Amino acid sequence: MTFSSWITKIVNLAMSICIALSNVGYAAQQNKELNLYSARHYQTDEALYANFTKLTGIKINRIEADDNALLERLNSEGSRSPADVILLVDAARLWRAQTNNYFKSIQSKYLNERIQANFRADADVDGIAWYGFSTRARIMVYNKAMIDPKNINTYEKLADLVNKGKVCTRSGSHPYMLSLVGALIERVGLEATEQWARGMVLNMARDPKGGDTDQIRAVASGECSVAITNSYYLARLMRSGKPEDIEVVRKIGHVWPNQNSGGVHMNISGGGVAKNAPNPKAAVQFLEYLASDAAQIYLADGNNEWPVVTSVKVNNPALEALGPHQVEKISVAAIGRNQMAAQRILDKVGYK
Ligand SMILES: [Fe+2]
Repeated sequence: MTFSSWITKIVNLAMSICIALSNVGYAAQQNKELNLYSARHYQTDEALYANFTKLTGIKINRIEADDNALLERLNSEGSRSPADVILLVDAARLWRAQTNNYFKSIQSKYLNERIQANFRADADVDGIAWYGFSTRARIMVYNKAMIDPKNINTYEKLADLVNKGKVCTRSGSHPYMLSLVGALIERVGLEATEQWARGMVLNMARDPKGGDTDQIRAVASGECSVAITNSYYLARLMRSGKPEDIEVVRKIGHVWPNQNSGGVHMNISGGGVAKNAPNPKAAVQFLEYLASDAAQIYLADGNNEWPVVTSVKVNNPALEALGPHQVEKISVAAIGRNQMAAQRILDKVGYK
């Protein structure tokens, strides 16, 4: 062997050692970082994530945006997406993300034990694509001077003739409404749901517009007599110290619907491991952390929701004031599956 070939050999060896070492560094770095795409952003999230890092040494890189922006981002990133965990709100969106193939199904005995079957995706051959981590109810609020709560104590009654010109909701195409209609399809079938949707359109006090809080305010102002809202929007107003919010809450009442016929419609915020997660092990670890007692309290309290793990209790005065209630037993996976049928019905009857 010549002197120069010795040199080449040594240089090559040194280079491959460097590459190997840097790969080890890269892998170690990867195991210590988790990329989280989240549609949730509340004050308690800081403590929630800091606690995970403290427990595991894994740093969380957060991308926070609303659900639609996150779904668009995942779509454009495709298989190159650096996302490890995806958190979204509402079963309709989780189901859409699942059908778009954004989730990797996982096996976790812990999650299956902690989270009841109706608050997660159906199992497939590889496991489960997403889990709920907090729950919210879709309830009725009404103007105390304008309506007898007995006339609005089921979703079905909102579509009765007695409520003509009195009802307000956000757009029928919003995931919260699609999920509600999806649950109704599960409960009473396609035909009865279509009849219901027709009745709702006839009973509208105004064309659907705005978010749930806008509906509550419109009920207080008297523009609408009754509206549908997610429970946490009402709880948020009940906890507010602003004089205008206190005034709104004073004028309205709330109803837990369908207490003798299937329970109030329940939905979730939830998430799963991203399809091409660079760090799937840490991603599962993170989801399992979200189902722990401490994380469940952070998650629920951050948005006036209930923990999905039923043994965990939150100390929230507004939720306490909303009172006891019977909840729907329909699977959020079934609700997700029904959303296309729900949209078809709403389009057919002209529910904007
Ligand atoms: Fe919301």
